[in-house]
Amino acid sequence: MAEQKGFTLWFTGLSGSGKTTLAKAVEQALRKRGLKVERLDGDIVRRSLTRDLGFSKEDRDKNIERVTFVAKLLTRNGVATLCSFISPYREVRARSRAEIGNFVEVYCECPLETCIERDVKGLYKKAINGEIENFTGISDPYEPPENPEIVVHTGSETVEESTAIILRRLAELGYIEPELTGAVVYSAEEETEVEERLRALGYI
Ligand code: ADX
Repeated sequence: MAEQKGFTLWFTGLSGSGKTTLAKAVEQALRKRGLKVERLDGDIVRRSLTRDLGFSKEDRDKNIERVTFVAKLLTRNGVATLCSFISPYREVRARSRAEIGNFVEVYCECPLETCIERDVKGLYKKAINGEIENFTGISDPYEPPENPEIVVHTGSETVEESTAIILRRLAELGYIEPELTGAVVYSAEEETEVEERLRALGYI
């Protein structure tokens, strides 16, 4: 196979919209293909590289600025880099795009009501009760992408469906090889013909 081309898949969306779940599923799929993958995730990065930061606009911008720096280095070294951050500001995502280069924006579109219903981390409840300030979607803005390379509807699609959409688009964009699935189905006659040809060529 040709040398791996680095790219950054940038998952953006509300908290609880499935960014991490999807990034993990795509990570698995890419690893299976033998690609080098790194995953940068808000909840993890905020415990190390950006643990000094909170959720003011200024701090969110710094968070994204730092991870963009890391993603840029990985991407230019041929790594498939999966970033999952709320990254609520359009302009800041545009800056990451310009900085990183091979940038594929994945909008994890999920209705706020669904995220609130799921409330995996129990944070929406706290935000609604006013126990957490500046919570995205409740008391802080989220600016949806206007022209993302990929939109997945995580409120209605399964993880498998969304993952397949992402992989297909990555192949279309030339970042990965198209999937060699067992989708080609031969009729009985065709199978016989193929067999005969292979026999004639001495392969079987
Ligand atoms: S970003 O806005 O700077 O991109 P990031 O993705 O790193 O955010 O972190 C978001 C995660 O932090 C959420 O999934 C949630 O678990 C947690 N969190 C804690 N406080 C807030 C808040 N005020 N707004 C959004 N997320 C918060």
